[in-house]
Amino acid sequence: MLNKQTVTDTVVRGQTVLVRVDYNVPMKDGRIVDDLRIRESLPTIELLRKKGARRIVLISHLGRPEGQKVLEMSLKPVYKRLAELLPKVFFVPDVSGPDVEDAVEALPVGGVLLLENLRFFPGEEANSADFAKDIVDSTHADLFVQDGFAVVHRAHASTSAITAELPSVAGLLLEKELTGLSKVAESPSHPFVVVIGGAKVADKQPLIDKYAKIADKIVVGGKIAADGYTSPLDRVYVCEDFIEGSEGDLAGKKLDIGPKSVAKVTEVLSGAKTVLWNGLMGMAEVPEFAGGSIAVARAISGNTKAYSVVCGGDTTGFVENLEKTEPDLHFSLISTGGGAALEFLLGESLPGVEALDEK
Ligand code: 3PG
Repeated sequence: MLNKQTVTDTVVRGQTVLVRVDYNVPMKDGRIVDDLRIRESLPTIELLRKKGARRIVLISHLGRPEGQKVLEMSLKPVYKRLAELLPKVFFVPDVSGPDVEDAVEALPVGGVLLLENLRFFPGEEANSADFAKDIVDSTHADLFVQDGFAVVHRAHASTSAITAELPSVAGLLLEKELTGLSKVAESPSHPFVVVIGGAKVADKQPLIDKYAKIADKIVVGGKIAADGYTSPLDRVYVCEDFIEGSEGDLAGKKLDIGPKSVAKVTEVLSGAKTVLWNGLMGMAEVPEFAGGSIAVARAISGNTKAYSVVCGGDTTGFVENLEKTEPDLHFSLISTGGGAALEFLLGESLPGVEALDEK
């Protein structure tokens, strides 16, 4: 149970509410590749409107501009997407000062204002109290809602310092993520199966080490397995056959798990009661090498008795994309958090959650 106050139990009527969202969405050529984080921010905004909030001001980062104004990292494209999903959405290309004050003042009742990328200013990553105070003063906010689950592993001005300025509570997405991930990390039903893939063994080893003690089976696939990963533990199954590339640079490279491994993984997943999936089984961006990851997605989804969590940006992006052609796929939680989800699953404390008001 979350021991922090939440937006559900807070009175917001007539208030100006400052909401930290994580709109750090993947972009390509100025276009949003995956809008999961934008869509997942809507329930909190809609709840605030329903509960009579006077104004809603959204703050976020995008990319790593390192304290500089970098045009390609403006939140303007995100604003455009948000405005397609919700009525009464506005944007101001700053985070404090007179333009922000005017934009807040001009908002209609229930209006939503997205401020510019917080990381255009060094104060954000420096966790500057002055930077946080300037935002609060310019927006005249009465309440802070933390709903940017994907960024709560950072102690930045918009996750940490700002909570000293305002009453600070958890949003619906933050609550949903923490509740869902806790089911896996703290009280999984057994059999519990963890599927690990991806490319960098160093990133995944801590997860394998921790969950080897809790899970009934750990499946290791992806480039990690193709590169020859081994484990002395019986409960760790390392994929054993691979599909190789045949042309150009890819010739002879192991780029997806093979049929024997797919059959084994599918069988293991069919009996699971809890599943955690992090990391793709192969070079899934190339359709020829997506078969293993598609098989895992279908096997998890097909096991309707299992509580399933998918996490990691590549894996959730893949699943989101697959759902466009296979809309019946179902997962209990597709986490919006990359590093934040991993840190939580490893039992590390999250500064952006710790900073919120106790129940
Ligand atoms: C993420 O995408 O993991 C979060 O938005 C955090 O971004 P960061 O790793 O640049 O702090």
